[in-house]
Amino acid sequence: MQRLIIVRTVCTVRRQCKTERSVPRVGREPPYDGPTVVVYGASGHTGSFVVDELWRRGIVPIASGRDAGKLEARGLAGRGIAVAEASIDDAGSMRRAFARAAVVVNCAGPFLDTADAVIGAAIEVGAHYVDVTAEQASVQATFNQYDDVARQAGLTVVPAMGFFGGLADLLASAGSRDLDVIEQMDIAVFLDSWYPTAGTRRTGARNTAPRMVVANGRLSPIADPPPKRKWSFPAPVGDVDVTGVPLSEVPVIARHLQPVNMMTYLNDDSLRDLADPNTPPPTAVDRLGRSAQSFVIDLHITCGSLERRAVASGRDIYAITAPLVAEATQQLLRRRSPAGVLAPGEHLSAVATLDALAHDYSGVQWTVTP
Ligand SMILES: NC(=O)c1ccc[n+]([C@@H]2O[C@H](COP(=O)([O-])OP(=O)(O)OC[C@H]3O[C@@H](n4cnc5c(N)ncnc54)[C@H](OP(=O)(O)O)[C@@H]3O)[C@@H](O)[C@H]2O)c1
Repeated sequence: MQRLIIVRTVCTVRRQCKTERSVPRVGREPPYDGPTVVVYGASGHTGSFVVDELWRRGIVPIASGRDAGKLEARGLAGRGIAVAEASIDDAGSMRRAFARAAVVVNCAGPFLDTADAVIGAAIEVGAHYVDVTAEQASVQATFNQYDDVARQAGLTVVPAMGFFGGLADLLASAGSRDLDVIEQMDIAVFLDSWYPTAGTRRTGARNTAPRMVVANGRLSPIADPPPKRKWSFPAPVGDVDVTGVPLSEVPVIARHLQPVNMMTYLNDDSLRDLADPNTPPPTAVDRLGRSAQSFVIDLHITCGSLERRAVASGRDIYAITAPLVAEATQQLLRRRSPAGVLAPGEHLSAVATLDALAHDYSGVQWTVTP
Protein backbone atom coordinates (compact mmCIF):
# COMPACT_ATOMS: atom_id res chain seq x y z
CA MET A 1 0.00 0.00 0.00
CA GLN A 2 1.24 3.46 -0.77
CA ARG A 3 1.11 5.85 2.14
CA LEU A 4 -1.71 8.31 2.32
CA ILE A 5 -0.41 11.85 2.25
CA ILE A 6 -2.96 14.39 3.37
CA VAL A 7 -1.95 17.97 4.02
CA ARG A 8 -4.75 19.98 5.48
CA THR A 9 -5.26 22.97 3.26
CA VAL A 10 -6.91 26.31 3.89
CA CYS A 11 -9.22 27.19 1.03
CA THR A 12 -11.38 30.22 0.39
CA VAL A 13 -13.34 29.78 3.58
CA ARG A 14 -12.35 27.56 6.46
CA ARG A 15 -14.88 25.12 7.76
CA GLN A 16 -15.13 22.66 10.59
CA CYS A 17 -13.75 19.23 9.80
CA LYS A 18 -16.31 16.55 9.15
CA THR A 19 -16.37 13.86 11.80
CA GLU A 20 -14.94 10.64 10.38
CA ARG A 21 -17.16 7.78 11.48
CA SER A 22 -15.17 4.73 12.44
CA VAL A 23 -15.35 1.68 10.21
CA PRO A 24 -13.94 -1.51 11.68
CA ARG A 25 -11.16 -3.20 9.73
CA VAL A 26 -12.09 -5.51 6.92
CA GLY A 27 -11.28 -9.11 7.60
CA ARG A 28 -12.74 -12.24 9.09
CA GLU A 29 -15.16 -11.39 11.83
CA PRO A 30 -16.87 -13.79 14.24
CA PRO A 31 -19.70 -15.79 12.59
CA TYR A 32 -22.59 -13.47 11.95
CA ASP A 33 -25.81 -14.52 13.66
CA GLY A 34 -27.75 -11.26 13.38
CA PRO A 35 -30.41 -10.08 10.97
CA THR A 36 -30.42 -11.29 7.41
CA VAL A 37 -28.93 -9.72 4.30
CA VAL A 38 -30.71 -10.50 1.03
CA VAL A 39 -28.75 -10.12 -2.22
CA TYR A 40 -31.11 -9.56 -5.17
CA GLY A 41 -29.59 -10.40 -8.56
CA ALA A 42 -27.37 -12.99 -6.85
CA SER A 43 -27.19 -15.07 -10.05
CA GLY A 44 -25.20 -12.35 -11.82
CA HIS A 45 -21.45 -11.80 -12.06
CA THR A 46 -21.45 -8.94 -9.55
CA GLY A 47 -24.13 -10.48 -7.32
CA SER A 48 -21.98 -13.63 -7.06
CA PHE A 49 -18.97 -11.58 -5.91
CA VAL A 50 -21.18 -9.86 -3.33
CA VAL A 51 -22.61 -13.13 -1.97
CA ASP A 52 -19.08 -14.56 -1.71
CA GLU A 53 -17.72 -11.43 -0.02
CA LEU A 54 -20.49 -11.30 2.59
CA TRP A 55 -19.97 -15.00 3.29
CA ARG A 56 -16.20 -14.43 3.56
CA ARG A 57 -16.95 -11.85 6.26
CA GLY A 58 -19.11 -14.28 8.20
CA ILE A 59 -22.49 -12.98 6.97
CA VAL A 60 -24.59 -15.76 5.44
CA PRO A 61 -26.88 -13.96 2.99
CA ILE A 62 -30.06 -15.12 1.27
CA ALA A 63 -29.51 -15.30 -2.50
CA SER A 64 -32.47 -13.88 -4.36
CA GLY A 65 -33.37 -13.40 -8.01
CA ARG A 66 -36.01 -14.02 -10.62
CA ASP A 67 -34.84 -17.58 -11.42
CA ALA A 68 -34.43 -19.93 -8.46
CA GLY A 69 -33.07 -22.67 -10.74
CA LYS A 70 -30.15 -20.47 -11.78
CA LEU A 71 -29.37 -19.65 -8.16
CA GLU A 72 -29.62 -23.29 -7.02
CA ALA A 73 -27.26 -24.28 -9.82
CA ARG A 74 -24.55 -22.21 -8.09
CA GLY A 75 -24.37 -24.78 -5.31
CA LEU A 76 -25.02 -22.24 -2.58
CA ALA A 77 -26.83 -24.70 -0.31
CA GLY A 78 -23.50 -26.32 0.61
CA ARG A 79 -22.52 -23.03 2.28
CA GLY A 80 -25.86 -22.68 4.06
CA ILE A 81 -27.03 -19.95 1.68
CA ALA A 82 -30.80 -20.13 1.09
CA VAL A 83 -32.40 -19.16 -2.22
CA ALA A 84 -35.51 -16.96 -2.52
CA GLU A 85 -37.13 -16.47 -5.92
CA ALA A 86 -38.77 -13.08 -6.50
CA SER A 87 -39.85 -11.09 -9.52
CA ILE A 88 -39.92 -7.32 -9.80
CA ASP A 89 -43.32 -7.76 -11.48
CA ASP A 90 -44.76 -9.49 -8.39
CA ALA A 91 -44.61 -7.29 -5.28
CA GLY A 92 -45.80 -10.16 -3.08
CA SER A 93 -42.86 -12.34 -4.14
CA MET A 94 -40.45 -9.50 -3.32
CA ARG A 95 -41.99 -8.99 0.13
CA ARG A 96 -41.78 -12.72 0.86
CA ALA A 97 -38.15 -12.93 -0.31
CA PHE A 98 -37.15 -9.90 1.78
CA ALA A 99 -39.33 -10.70 4.83
CA ARG A 100 -36.37 -11.47 7.14
CA ALA A 101 -34.04 -8.85 5.70
CA ALA A 102 -32.32 -6.12 7.67
CA VAL A 103 -30.50 -5.06 4.49
CA VAL A 104 -31.39 -5.69 0.85
CA VAL A 105 -28.51 -5.44 -1.63
CA ASN A 106 -29.62 -4.96 -5.23
CA CYS A 107 -27.16 -6.23 -7.87
CA ALA A 108 -29.81 -6.73 -10.60
CA GLY A 109 -29.37 -4.25 -13.40
CA PRO A 110 -30.39 -2.31 -15.43
CA PHE A 111 -31.39 -0.44 -12.28
CA LEU A 112 -33.69 1.78 -14.30
CA ASP A 113 -35.80 -1.43 -14.44
CA THR A 114 -35.24 -2.93 -10.98
CA ALA A 115 -34.49 -0.16 -8.44
CA ASP A 116 -38.08 1.02 -7.89
CA ALA A 117 -39.46 -2.45 -7.20
CA VAL A 118 -36.54 -3.49 -4.99
CA ILE A 119 -36.37 -0.26 -2.95
CA GLY A 120 -40.16 -0.26 -2.55
CA ALA A 121 -40.21 -3.84 -1.24
CA ALA A 122 -37.18 -3.25 1.03
CA ILE A 123 -38.83 -0.24 2.64
CA GLU A 124 -42.12 -2.12 3.01
CA VAL A 125 -40.44 -4.89 5.04
CA GLY A 126 -38.34 -2.40 7.04
CA ALA A 127 -34.95 -3.15 5.44
CA HIS A 128 -32.10 -0.81 4.51
CA TYR A 129 -31.08 -0.81 0.84
CA VAL A 130 -27.81 -0.73 -1.10
CA ASP A 131 -27.35 -0.96 -4.87
CA VAL A 132 -24.50 -0.84 -7.39
CA THR A 133 -26.03 1.22 -10.15
CA ALA A 134 -23.79 2.99 -12.63
CA GLU A 135 -26.85 4.66 -14.21
CA GLN A 136 -27.09 8.35 -13.41
CA ALA A 137 -30.84 8.50 -14.00
CA SER A 138 -31.43 5.68 -11.53
CA VAL A 139 -29.33 7.47 -8.86
CA GLN A 140 -31.22 10.71 -9.41
CA ALA A 141 -34.60 8.98 -9.24
CA THR A 142 -33.58 7.28 -5.98
CA PHE A 143 -32.52 10.59 -4.39
CA ASN A 144 -35.66 12.35 -5.62
CA GLN A 145 -38.26 9.68 -4.86
CA TYR A 146 -37.06 7.90 -1.73
CA ASP A 147 -35.28 10.38 0.55
CA ASP A 148 -38.44 11.44 2.42
CA VAL A 149 -39.92 7.94 2.35
CA ALA A 150 -36.73 6.41 3.79
CA ARG A 151 -36.44 9.12 6.47
CA GLN A 152 -40.03 8.53 7.56
CA ALA A 153 -39.36 4.79 7.73
CA GLY A 154 -36.10 5.32 9.66
CA LEU A 155 -34.18 3.47 6.93
CA THR A 156 -31.02 4.18 4.94
CA VAL A 157 -30.84 3.84 1.16
CA VAL A 158 -27.41 3.92 -0.54
CA PRO A 159 -27.36 3.91 -4.37
CA ALA A 160 -24.24 3.44 -6.55
CA MET A 161 -22.06 1.60 -4.02
CA GLY A 162 -19.95 0.06 -6.83
CA PHE A 163 -16.70 0.78 -8.62
CA PHE A 164 -18.46 3.46 -10.68
CA GLY A 165 -20.17 5.76 -8.22
CA GLY A 166 -18.93 4.44 -4.90
CA LEU A 167 -15.16 4.18 -5.22
CA ALA A 168 -14.79 7.57 -6.93
CA ASP A 169 -17.08 9.15 -4.33
CA LEU A 170 -14.99 7.75 -1.47
CA LEU A 171 -11.82 9.01 -3.15
CA ALA A 172 -13.39 12.43 -3.77
CA SER A 173 -14.60 12.55 -0.16
CA ALA A 174 -11.14 11.67 1.19
CA GLY A 175 -9.50 14.17 -1.16
CA SER A 176 -11.76 17.09 -0.28
CA ARG A 177 -12.54 16.55 3.37
CA ASP A 178 -10.74 19.74 4.50
CA LEU A 179 -12.07 21.92 1.66
CA ASP A 180 -15.05 24.24 1.75
CA VAL A 181 -15.30 24.91 -1.93
CA ILE A 182 -14.44 22.64 -4.83
CA GLU A 183 -14.20 24.85 -7.88
CA GLN A 184 -13.38 22.08 -10.33
CA MET A 185 -13.35 18.32 -9.98
CA ASP A 186 -12.16 16.23 -12.92
CA ILE A 187 -12.06 12.45 -12.68
CA ALA A 188 -10.48 10.16 -15.26
CA VAL A 189 -10.83 6.39 -15.13
CA PHE A 190 -8.26 4.19 -16.87
CA LEU A 191 -9.06 0.53 -17.51
CA ASP A 192 -6.31 -1.52 -19.17
CA SER A 193 -9.12 -3.53 -20.80
CA TRP A 194 -12.87 -3.86 -20.38
CA TYR A 195 -14.40 -7.28 -20.82
CA PRO A 196 -18.05 -6.37 -20.16
CA THR A 197 -20.64 -8.69 -18.65
CA ALA A 198 -24.00 -9.25 -20.32
CA GLY A 199 -25.51 -7.04 -17.60
CA THR A 200 -23.13 -4.19 -18.44
CA ARG A 201 -24.09 -4.46 -22.12
CA ARG A 202 -27.84 -4.57 -21.36
CA THR A 203 -27.51 -1.63 -18.99
CA GLY A 204 -25.61 0.43 -21.54
CA ALA A 205 -28.28 -0.25 -24.17
CA ARG A 206 -31.12 0.53 -21.74
CA ASN A 207 -29.53 3.71 -20.39
CA THR A 208 -30.40 6.30 -23.02
CA ALA A 209 -30.89 9.17 -20.55
CA PRO A 210 -28.74 12.24 -21.29
CA ARG A 211 -25.37 12.04 -19.49
CA MET A 212 -24.99 14.77 -16.89
CA VAL A 213 -21.99 16.75 -15.66
CA VAL A 214 -21.85 19.60 -13.17
CA ALA A 215 -21.58 23.10 -14.67
CA ASN A 216 -21.82 26.23 -12.53
CA GLY A 217 -23.16 24.23 -9.62
CA ARG A 218 -25.95 22.50 -11.56
CA LEU A 219 -26.34 19.06 -13.12
CA SER A 220 -26.32 19.79 -16.84
CA PRO A 221 -26.20 17.63 -20.00
CA ILE A 222 -22.69 16.91 -21.26
CA ALA A 223 -21.67 18.69 -24.47
CA ASP A 224 -22.52 16.89 -27.72
CA PRO A 225 -20.11 15.59 -28.93
CA PRO A 226 -18.54 14.87 -25.52
CA PRO A 227 -15.11 16.40 -24.77
CA LYS A 228 -11.97 14.50 -25.77
CA ARG A 229 -8.50 15.16 -24.42
CA LYS A 230 -5.19 13.65 -23.35
CA TRP A 231 -4.93 12.70 -19.68
CA SER A 232 -1.63 12.17 -17.86
CA PHE A 233 -2.21 9.23 -15.53
CA PRO A 234 0.47 8.37 -12.97
CA ALA A 235 3.24 6.05 -14.21
CA PRO A 236 3.29 3.46 -15.59
CA VAL A 237 0.09 4.40 -17.51
CA GLY A 238 1.20 7.86 -18.72
CA ASP A 239 -0.53 9.96 -21.41
CA VAL A 240 -3.75 8.45 -22.68
CA ASP A 241 -6.70 9.59 -24.86
CA VAL A 242 -9.90 9.97 -22.83
CA THR A 243 -13.50 10.94 -23.61
CA GLY A 244 -16.10 12.54 -21.34
CA VAL A 245 -18.39 9.74 -20.09
CA PRO A 246 -20.22 10.69 -16.90
CA LEU A 247 -21.55 7.77 -14.84
CA SER A 248 -23.10 7.49 -11.38
CA GLU A 249 -20.21 9.26 -9.63
CA VAL A 250 -21.49 12.60 -10.90
CA PRO A 251 -24.88 12.66 -9.11
CA VAL A 252 -23.52 11.10 -5.89
CA ILE A 253 -20.58 13.49 -5.65
CA ALA A 254 -22.75 16.45 -6.66
CA ARG A 255 -25.20 15.50 -3.93
CA HIS A 256 -22.88 15.96 -0.97
CA LEU A 257 -19.58 17.52 -2.09
CA GLN A 258 -21.22 20.02 -4.44
CA PRO A 259 -18.36 20.86 -6.79
CA VAL A 260 -19.00 23.98 -8.85
CA ASN A 261 -17.86 22.17 -12.01
CA MET A 262 -17.28 18.48 -12.55
CA MET A 263 -16.38 16.28 -15.53
CA THR A 264 -15.60 12.58 -15.71
CA TYR A 265 -13.67 10.71 -18.41
CA LEU A 266 -12.95 7.14 -19.49
CA ASN A 267 -9.95 6.07 -21.55
CA ASP A 268 -10.73 5.51 -25.24
CA ASP A 269 -9.25 2.01 -25.40
CA SER A 270 -11.66 0.75 -22.73
CA LEU A 271 -14.57 2.40 -24.56
CA ARG A 272 -13.51 0.59 -27.75
CA ASP A 273 -13.54 -2.75 -25.87
CA LEU A 274 -17.02 -1.94 -24.59
CA ALA A 275 -18.36 -0.90 -27.99
CA ASP A 276 -17.02 -4.01 -29.75
CA PRO A 277 -19.78 -6.69 -29.72
CA ASN A 278 -17.07 -9.36 -30.01
CA THR A 279 -15.30 -8.45 -26.76
CA PRO A 280 -15.82 -11.49 -24.51
CA PRO A 281 -17.04 -11.34 -20.88
CA PRO A 282 -14.45 -11.28 -18.07
CA THR A 283 -12.38 -14.39 -17.37
CA ALA A 284 -11.40 -15.44 -13.86
CA VAL A 285 -7.67 -15.74 -13.31
CA ASP A 286 -7.55 -16.31 -9.55
CA ARG A 287 -9.34 -18.49 -7.02
CA LEU A 288 -11.57 -15.55 -6.02
CA GLY A 289 -12.91 -15.32 -9.58
CA ARG A 290 -11.23 -11.99 -10.33
CA SER A 291 -10.07 -11.06 -13.82
CA ALA A 292 -6.66 -9.58 -14.56
CA GLN A 293 -8.19 -6.17 -15.45
CA SER A 294 -6.48 -3.25 -13.73
CA PHE A 295 -7.96 0.18 -13.05
CA VAL A 296 -6.78 3.65 -12.07
CA ILE A 297 -9.07 6.45 -10.88
CA ASP A 298 -7.27 9.80 -11.12
CA LEU A 299 -9.09 12.71 -9.53
CA HIS A 300 -8.03 16.36 -9.79
CA ILE A 301 -9.49 18.98 -7.48
CA THR A 302 -8.99 22.71 -7.91
CA CYS A 303 -9.70 25.12 -5.09
CA GLY A 304 -8.21 28.61 -5.54
CA SER A 305 -4.49 28.11 -6.01
CA LEU A 306 -4.66 24.57 -4.61
CA GLU A 307 -4.40 21.71 -7.09
CA ARG A 308 -4.94 18.41 -5.38
CA ARG A 309 -4.74 14.93 -6.81
CA ALA A 310 -6.28 11.75 -5.44
CA VAL A 311 -5.49 8.42 -7.08
CA ALA A 312 -6.79 4.92 -6.48
CA SER A 313 -5.70 1.81 -8.36
CA GLY A 314 -6.57 -1.85 -8.16
CA ARG A 315 -7.96 -4.79 -9.97
CA ASP A 316 -11.27 -5.88 -11.57
CA ILE A 317 -14.05 -3.30 -11.46
CA TYR A 318 -16.72 -5.99 -10.89
CA ALA A 319 -14.85 -7.77 -8.08
CA ILE A 320 -13.92 -4.55 -6.22
CA THR A 321 -17.62 -3.68 -6.08
CA ALA A 322 -18.14 -6.56 -3.60
CA PRO A 323 -16.01 -5.28 -0.68
CA LEU A 324 -17.49 -1.81 -1.23
CA VAL A 325 -21.00 -3.26 -0.88
CA ALA A 326 -19.92 -5.37 2.08
CA GLU A 327 -18.52 -2.31 3.89
CA ALA A 328 -21.80 -0.45 3.27
CA THR A 329 -23.83 -3.45 4.42
CA GLN A 330 -21.86 -3.94 7.62
CA GLN A 331 -22.24 -0.25 8.39
CA LEU A 332 -26.01 -0.61 8.00
CA LEU A 333 -26.09 -3.66 10.24
CA ARG A 334 -24.33 -1.56 12.88
CA ARG A 335 -27.03 1.12 12.38
CA ARG A 336 -24.52 3.98 12.33
CA SER A 337 -25.90 6.03 9.44
CA PRO A 338 -28.82 8.44 9.45
CA ALA A 339 -32.07 7.65 7.66
CA GLY A 340 -32.65 8.87 4.11
CA VAL A 341 -30.90 8.40 0.79
CA LEU A 342 -27.14 8.78 1.27
CA ALA A 343 -24.28 8.98 -1.21
CA PRO A 344 -21.58 6.32 -0.56
CA GLY A 345 -19.22 9.00 0.79
CA GLU A 346 -21.90 10.20 3.22
CA HIS A 347 -22.69 6.70 4.44
CA LEU A 348 -19.12 5.47 4.94
CA SER A 349 -16.01 7.03 6.38
CA ALA A 350 -14.00 7.55 3.20
CA VAL A 351 -10.50 7.28 4.65
CA ALA A 352 -11.27 4.29 6.85
CA THR A 353 -13.00 2.44 4.02
CA LEU A 354 -10.22 3.09 1.50
CA ASP A 355 -7.69 1.98 4.11
CA ALA A 356 -9.73 -1.17 4.72
CA LEU A 357 -9.66 -1.94 0.97
CA ALA A 358 -5.92 -1.34 0.98
CA HIS A 359 -5.31 -3.72 3.87
CA ASP A 360 -7.44 -6.66 2.76
CA TYR A 361 -7.03 -8.90 -0.30
CA SER A 362 -8.52 -6.15 -2.55
CA GLY A 363 -5.11 -4.46 -2.52
CA VAL A 364 -6.40 -1.02 -3.51
CA GLN A 365 -3.62 1.56 -3.48
CA TRP A 366 -4.61 5.16 -2.87
CA THR A 367 -2.99 8.52 -2.29
CA VAL A 368 -4.03 12.13 -1.83
CA THR A 369 -1.42 14.83 -2.63
CA PRO A 370 -0.69 17.42 -1.39
N1 LIG B 1 -21.29 0.71 -10.38
C1 LIG B 1 -20.46 -0.23 -10.80
O1 LIG B 1 -19.24 -0.03 -10.84
C2 LIG B 1 -20.99 -1.58 -11.18
C3 LIG B 1 -20.18 -2.71 -11.00
C4 LIG B 1 -20.70 -3.94 -11.36
C5 LIG B 1 -21.97 -4.03 -11.89
N2 LIG B 1 -22.73 -2.91 -12.05
C6 LIG B 1 -24.08 -2.98 -12.58
O2 LIG B 1 -24.73 -4.09 -11.99
C7 LIG B 1 -25.62 -4.68 -12.92
C8 LIG B 1 -25.35 -6.17 -13.02
O3 LIG B 1 -24.10 -6.34 -13.61
P1 LIG B 1 -23.47 -7.82 -13.74
O4 LIG B 1 -22.11 -7.61 -14.22
O5 LIG B 1 -23.65 -8.58 -12.47
O6 LIG B 1 -24.39 -8.46 -14.89
P2 LIG B 1 -24.87 -9.96 -15.08
O7 LIG B 1 -23.81 -10.92 -14.70
O8 LIG B 1 -25.43 -10.05 -16.45
O9 LIG B 1 -26.07 -10.11 -14.01
C9 LIG B 1 -27.25 -9.40 -14.14
C10 LIG B 1 -28.13 -9.75 -12.95
O10 LIG B 1 -29.29 -8.91 -12.96
C11 LIG B 1 -30.45 -9.74 -12.97
N3 LIG B 1 -31.51 -9.04 -13.67
C12 LIG B 1 -31.40 -8.31 -14.81
N4 LIG B 1 -32.59 -7.79 -15.16
C13 LIG B 1 -33.46 -8.21 -14.19
C14 LIG B 1 -34.85 -8.01 -14.01
N5 LIG B 1 -35.59 -7.29 -14.87
N6 LIG B 1 -35.43 -8.58 -12.94
C15 LIG B 1 -34.69 -9.31 -12.06
N7 LIG B 1 -33.38 -9.54 -12.20
C16 LIG B 1 -32.78 -8.99 -13.27
C17 LIG B 1 -30.00 -11.01 -13.66
O11 LIG B 1 -30.90 -12.06 -13.38
P3 LIG B 1 -30.91 -13.39 -14.31
O12 LIG B 1 -29.66 -14.16 -13.95
O13 LIG B 1 -32.14 -14.10 -13.88
O14 LIG B 1 -30.91 -12.94 -15.74
C18 LIG B 1 -28.63 -11.18 -13.01
O15 LIG B 1 -28.76 -11.70 -11.71
C19 LIG B 1 -25.44 -3.90 -14.22
O16 LIG B 1 -26.45 -2.92 -14.29
C20 LIG B 1 -24.10 -3.22 -14.06
O17 LIG B 1 -24.02 -1.99 -14.77
C21 LIG B 1 -22.25 -1.69 -11.70
